[in-house]
Amino acid sequence: MLISARRLRRCQFLQLLSTCFLLSLMCMLIQEDNNVLSHIKSYSYRYLINSYDFVNQSLSVLREKSDGSIRFRYLLNNKHKCVSEDVLLLLFVKTSPENRRRRDIIRKTWGNEEYIRSQYNANIKVVFALGVDGDLMKSQFQKELVAENKIFKDLVQQDFFDSFHNLTLKLLLQFGWFNSYCQSAKFMMSADDDIFIHTPNLVLYLKSMALIDIQDFWIGRVHRGSPPIRRKNSKYYVPYEMYPWASYPDYTAGAAYVVSRDVAAKIYEASQTLNTSLYIDDVFMGICANKMGIVPRYHLFFSGEGKAPYDTCIYSKMMTSHGHLDDLDYIWKEATDPKVKALTSGFWGGLYCKLKNMLLLCKIGYADSYPCLAALS
Ligand SMILES: *[C@@H]1O[C@H](CO)[C@@H](O)[C@H](O)[C@H]1NC(C)=O
Ligand SMILES: *[C@@H]1O[C@H](CO)[C@@H](O)[C@H](O)[C@H]1NC(C)=O
Ligand SMILES: *[C@@H]1O[C@H](CO)[C@@H](O)[C@H](O)[C@H]1NC(C)=O
Repeated sequence: MLISARRLRRCQFLQLLSTCFLLSLMCMLIQEDNNVLSHIKSYSYRYLINSYDFVNQSLSVLREKSDGSIRFRYLLNNKHKCVSEDVLLLLFVKTSPENRRRRDIIRKTWGNEEYIRSQYNANIKVVFALGVDGDLMKSQFQKELVAENKIFKDLVQQDFFDSFHNLTLKLLLQFGWFNSYCQSAKFMMSADDDIFIHTPNLVLYLKSMALIDIQDFWIGRVHRGSPPIRRKNSKYYVPYEMYPWASYPDYTAGAAYVVSRDVAAKIYEASQTLNTSLYIDDVFMGICANKMGIVPRYHLFFSGEGKAPYDTCIYSKMMTSHGHLDDLDYIWKEATDPKVKALTSGFWGGLYCKLKNMLLLCKIGYADSYPCLAALS
């Protein structure tokens, strides 16, 4: 008995040794700056980042020194927009001054508050978050924005320069406004202005979450253990001084995510004592969440960068899809048509859609919309 146990252990040891050898051989074969390797590295790092608080400690700043306390002035506010008692969802759309056409289509399609109220008996509020275009006084856009806001009363604007590298300021605007003027809403969502949101599906889902009074809720398409991009020519380039580790904490793609009220409050709190120089807004949000011990959940029907296939079976389950501009009218009509429910419900409808979705989503090399797993859910 004793001998065979010892032999077994030796066997295990040899196995371990050869695994190590193979692994290091693999690492040598894959070149240092290879994408695959950096993903393996960052994925192993992910465990450390998510479990310990060194990110928190090194990026923490004193409240007085934090940029979060440099309040930008509200130019357009609409602070009474969200005061009614029973708001289910505050939906922030991240937009820019020049994107009037996008806003108009959104107001008529998935951002139509009245439609949701009448058809789904739910209160949602849609507001647009934006900064200013260039020199405020000279800007023609500003006059147009004031006029636009007179009609729709749904713009929230602060006087920082609206640019890609100021997206974190836009994030602070959203959480700040929510905490000041919309505290009764059960959920807050942040979304890009070039996406499609199936608001009916989303509202039904959030209603069911509200029924169980869900807390600690943060949902979207989760990026796990993503490595910072160190190529200088990339849009997402982050220098070591800004973020020194090999992996970001888990975070949801900024294209669209939802948080519950308690999470929004905690993120806002965390943002007041973190260095806000990291300009990738969704990563910054992940760092705030990491500091407060909040973990994101993956929803299979939130898309990342990808556009969902146009299909009735997809429409019955989709939450968000990215990269829609000229087809918003079309997809909104198709996706909310009563025939979707008729065709996809019941035993046979369900079975048909499982197969159809597998055909649509489980292709090798399919663009980044929903994972194959979504077809089975
Ligand atoms: C961000 O906004 C501030 C305030 O308007 C401005 O000073 C700064 O240049 C902007 N940064 C970028 C990268 O656009
Ligand atoms: C925030 O980080 C930047 C580097 O990205 C650094 O230059 C700056 O001093 C930091 N701010 C504070 C208040 O620590
Ligand atoms: C993050 O850091 C701050 C100050 O360094 C500390 O008070 C807080 O407890 C930390 N949070 C976590 C989750 O470790």
